[in-house]
Amino acid sequence: MSSLVPQPPDALLGLIALFKADPRPDKIDLGVGVFRDATGATPVMRAVKSAEALLLSNQSSKSYLGAEGDEIYTGLLGRLVLGSERAASDRIAGIQTPGGTGALRLGAELIGRAWPDATVWIGTPTWPNHGPIFSAAGLAIRSHRFYDVASATIDFDGMMSDLAAAKADDILLLHGCGHNPTGAWFAPSQWAQIAELCVRKGLIPFVDLAYQGLDDGLEEDAVLARAVLERVPSAFLAYSCDKNFGLYRDRVGGLWVQWESLREVPLVRGNLLALARSLWSMPPDHGAAIVRTILQSPELTADWTTELTAMRERINGLRRMLASVHPRLSPIAAQRGMFAMLPITPADVVGLREAHGVYMTDNGRINIAGLTTKSVPAFVAGLAPRLAESKQIR
Ligand code: LMR
Repeated sequence: MSSLVPQPPDALLGLIALFKADPRPDKIDLGVGVFRDATGATPVMRAVKSAEALLLSNQSSKSYLGAEGDEIYTGLLGRLVLGSERAASDRIAGIQTPGGTGALRLGAELIGRAWPDATVWIGTPTWPNHGPIFSAAGLAIRSHRFYDVASATIDFDGMMSDLAAAKADDILLLHGCGHNPTGAWFAPSQWAQIAELCVRKGLIPFVDLAYQGLDDGLEEDAVLARAVLERVPSAFLAYSCDKNFGLYRDRVGGLWVQWESLREVPLVRGNLLALARSLWSMPPDHGAAIVRTILQSPELTADWTTELTAMRERINGLRRMLASVHPRLSPIAAQRGMFAMLPITPADVVGLREAHGVYMTDNGRINIAGLTTKSVPAFVAGLAPRLAESKQIR
């Protein structure tokens, strides 16, 4: 008799199946976080197609690369994420990972080896997979206040007050941009205070950057992550190419670890490689080879950034449109990234699904890119009666 206990199905992935099974032709999918164009499609980006064609004709071998993956990819992506100067720092070790999830898990495993008694502090709400990833690596998790759904504002005082209980070498998980699920972002002065808190208390920031280029721009969206790394001695940065290169199922990511002691950086790298070898042996190559091919070519990079800009503008245009239709939605205009959280109850979420065929996660998170200028009026017609000012949300 084993001690396995039944696991609930993943709610986000379950939503994909529910939507698929709904026969209504005018159903609206605002569930899982994938970019959609004005026709509702999630296309393969032009530069990705071109890079794939090049790989098809030029790639001469699919032999093993090693636990570190494609080092040219990691080097080029590192410059995009960290900026050229920081990417060249001897205090930083970078490694290719299977998606952002792989990067988070690898970082969590390294933390488990380096600081087994560390607590990982995670703001609420967050991406539902954050807690399970760190717990699976055996780390203790604690929540801190982050966002007040009813007022659609960051509870910065609440966050700082909760973090007073954090101890040296605890980990502070931060979303680098495009906060999932709220779309809220820290003002630069708040980000500076967070960095200052990390320095003062010896906390180690772990930045999850999964939406670079989809908030305000490639450089703009990296500013805050870079500023934190600049201030603290040690830090982790998990990166995903899922959304900005549209490579979701190809699982393309990377982990960069900044380490206080220069002497120990080879030790960090050796541990990352050993951990990766036991977790997935080697990361999948195809998606990373696409990103490398794009970043090696000025023409493909230009085409990729043009398409990424159009994607971002589509999301931000829909944000402005949604924010203008109801006073309770107005904060959405100033938020960023793929998501927003509606001030509605879980019962409203079910009601919208059953009565109007609108699909979103149970906490009221919507994928803005799932809307179209055509579907916004139908969506808002179902939503508006549920947006009463006085409503108790949670
Ligand atoms: C999401 O939050 O919808 C995406 O990041 C997909 C996922 O893996 O959960």
